[in-house]
Amino acid sequence: MSGAPSIGAAAAPIGVFDSGLGGLTVVRALRGAVPDESLLYLGDTARVPYGTRSAETVVRYARSCSRELVARGVKALVIACNTVSAVAVEVLAAELDLPVLGVIEPGAEAAVAAAEAVGAAAGALPKIGVLGTQGTVLSGAYPRAVARLSSRLEVVAQAAPLLVPLVEEGWVEGEVPERVVERYVDPLVAEGAGVLVLGCTHYPLLAPVIARVAERLAGRPIPVVDGAAATARRVAEWIRTERLEPAPAGAAGTLELLVTDLPASFARLAESFLGRGEAPVAQIDLR
Ligand code: DGL
Repeated sequence: MSGAPSIGAAAAPIGVFDSGLGGLTVVRALRGAVPDESLLYLGDTARVPYGTRSAETVVRYARSCSRELVARGVKALVIACNTVSAVAVEVLAAELDLPVLGVIEPGAEAAVAAAEAVGAAAGALPKIGVLGTQGTVLSGAYPRAVARLSSRLEVVAQAAPLLVPLVEEGWVEGEVPERVVERYVDPLVAEGAGVLVLGCTHYPLLAPVIARVAERLAGRPIPVVDGAAATARRVAEWIRTERLEPAPAGAAGTLELLVTDLPASFARLAESFLGRGEAPVAQIDLR
């Protein structure tokens, strides 16, 4: 975690943002880990995808999303986008006067734990294979995060640009996603990856296909690590360790969803993902 500890009203929501829909995987995990906390989610659907853009552009977009959430009074910021976390987490943490958490550090931590467990069972450490957007892979953020935790683990990475549009379309099962996933997972398995990290917030929606394809290619099950759950656990830890004020006792966490383009298709996908009528979706312009 970075940023100032324990600021903001206890009842204020935790701000969560992503380039689009994928960050709802983090929302789902947060609702499980910290159910009393209210969440304010912003999906920058007008500008998705971020993963094919330059680091400078992603930082600019990240600043505008976080400015919006801060102006709406959030008490902490969770960057539920790997591409933003890869290039902007330090910038935002330095500029904002509230706790800021990205998804890469917790994701790398979960990947290292999974690789060590595989290594202990198999007698040799596997490589960690990262699937991510072009921006995340080019940034080298995962290898750096893993290297901070272990000097013995090697990371191989593969950009998987077609997976985001598949998820945004809700096309997460069947022959087409299987074939696309195979195209991206095959080089990682061939390079010796024995653990796969979903280095993009959209990919957990394809996790069953990714696990199935990886097992078929490797001839054995390959753990698939999703940074969303690890990120949510970190937020729960902030609260336990008083880095973040908890919601008042007895509070029932609310969820509000904001998007920057027409909300209809987002609302449909959010409903299928979080449950019917779970949260209102409003369209806003970023200031
Ligand atoms: N949310 C982005 C990420 O986790 C993926 C979608 C995009 O390219 O904007 O990297």
